[in-house]
Amino acid sequence: MNNIHPTNIYLNRDDKEQYLKQKAKVIWITGLSGSGKSTLAHGLERRLAERGYLTQVLDGDNIRTGINNNLGFTDDDRTENVRRIAEINKLFLNCGIITINAFISPTTEIRQMAREIIGNDFIEIFVDASFETCSQRDPKGLYKKALAGEIKNFTGLDAPFDRPENTEVIVDTNTLSIEEGVDLAYQYIKSEIRW
Ligand code: ADX
Repeated sequence: MNNIHPTNIYLNRDDKEQYLKQKAKVIWITGLSGSGKSTLAHGLERRLAERGYLTQVLDGDNIRTGINNNLGFTDDDRTENVRRIAEINKLFLNCGIITINAFISPTTEIRQMAREIIGNDFIEIFVDASFETCSQRDPKGLYKKALAGEIKNFTGLDAPFDRPENTEVIVDTNTLSIEEGVDLAYQYIKSEIRW
């Protein structure tokens, strides 16, 4: 970009990882609304905190009421939502922090964009729960409203959700408990974050 010159840095990512005694990673949890993404994210954060890791959870509720409060749920807005979040993740990576993301990130294209922005440190987890399971749980009452036609562009109803094909981990919350899901994810992640 013209006339913009990023400054040299005194402490780089390696230095910060050494300071924290951990490898920074981006954990990206995708799945339908109500599938259990945030629950898994917070469960994982707790598991990692108990072992001395520094993490940051980012999810739709905190990002969409703050930095992305001007975005809705059209395809373009969801793409912009995830693009900004992926850029934020790069900042946390450079800080040596393990970021745990819980966003629907509904399409293959959107998830691919996030993977490309972040690069090698991207670990994708698919929280697999069917539309039926999520609409029965309906923790926020949104499925009821969407099925009554009161919410437009609702994921899985009149907006797409592409089932992820190449995720590193699949957590099936149709059948697993929260602790079992956290175990499964932690078993995959632990060797990736060890200093
Ligand atoms: S994403 O598609 O852009 O990745 P994100 O994860 O940030 O979505 O936000 C999803 C959350 O917004 C849902 O869990 C739900 O609480 C709320 N929401 C409001 N309207 C919609 C909608 N039309 N489709 C899906 N989620 C919605």
